[in-house]
Amino acid sequence: MKRYIIGVTGASGSVLSKRLLSFLSGLEAELHIIITDTGKKVFEYETGTLWDAFLISLRQNKAFVLVHDNNDMFAGVASGSFVTEAMMVVPCSMATAAKIATGAGGNLLCRAADVCLKEKTKLVLSPREAPLHAIHLKNLLTLSECGAVIIPPVPVFYAKSENYGDMIDGIVGRILKSAGIENELYTKWNNGKDI
Ligand SMILES: Cc1cc2nc3c(=O)[nH]c(=O)nc-3n(C[C@H](O)[C@H](O)[C@H](O)COP(=O)(O)O)c2cc1C
Repeated sequence: MKRYIIGVTGASGSVLSKRLLSFLSGLEAELHIIITDTGKKVFEYETGTLWDAFLISLRQNKAFVLVHDNNDMFAGVASGSFVTEAMMVVPCSMATAAKIATGAGGNLLCRAADVCLKEKTKLVLSPREAPLHAIHLKNLLTLSECGAVIIPPVPVFYAKSENYGDMIDGIVGRILKSAGIENELYTKWNNGKDI
């Protein structure tokens, strides 16, 4: 069974992690979820959904869902010998991006990302901040140079949809694709012809 790591931080954009996790829960896969303390607070604030209630709903689906304590450095995902397909950090705060970029670590989410970089496992970060200052940009460049895919939550404007749900799906679909998970959530370019 394929294993995916999903990191959720306290950046704005919890609607994205909610949709991403809902999609992934429908796969025959093992989901290793790590959420930061602020990530949980922002998730509940922005989505109006209690994190624990959301987990119960995820567990009704196909995937095997594991949630790791962000302080548990003994978790499998903290080791390079624990093979995973990809890690997605959605949304990724500038604070977490900085910790991963410098290798400072300090929690399981950052350690798991560090492991992905050293093992050359796909690491997909969806950093959310605006505007971005030079330190943010330098950290994101460092991460990109180390092999991470940086995919900010930017709408797929050419899909020409004014529907919020479609916009979120377009972003989440691109994140999944970057992690090697093909999906039909986003509109593919077809020489300007509507699909
Ligand atoms: C409602 C809310 C929205 C936030 N949005 C962002 C954001 O978009 N990007 C960001 O980098 N930080 C944002 N922050 C600040 C982070 O939560 C803060 O830097 C935190 O320390 C990140 O910690 P974490 O990476 O461990 O989750 C937001 C905080 C709150 C309360």
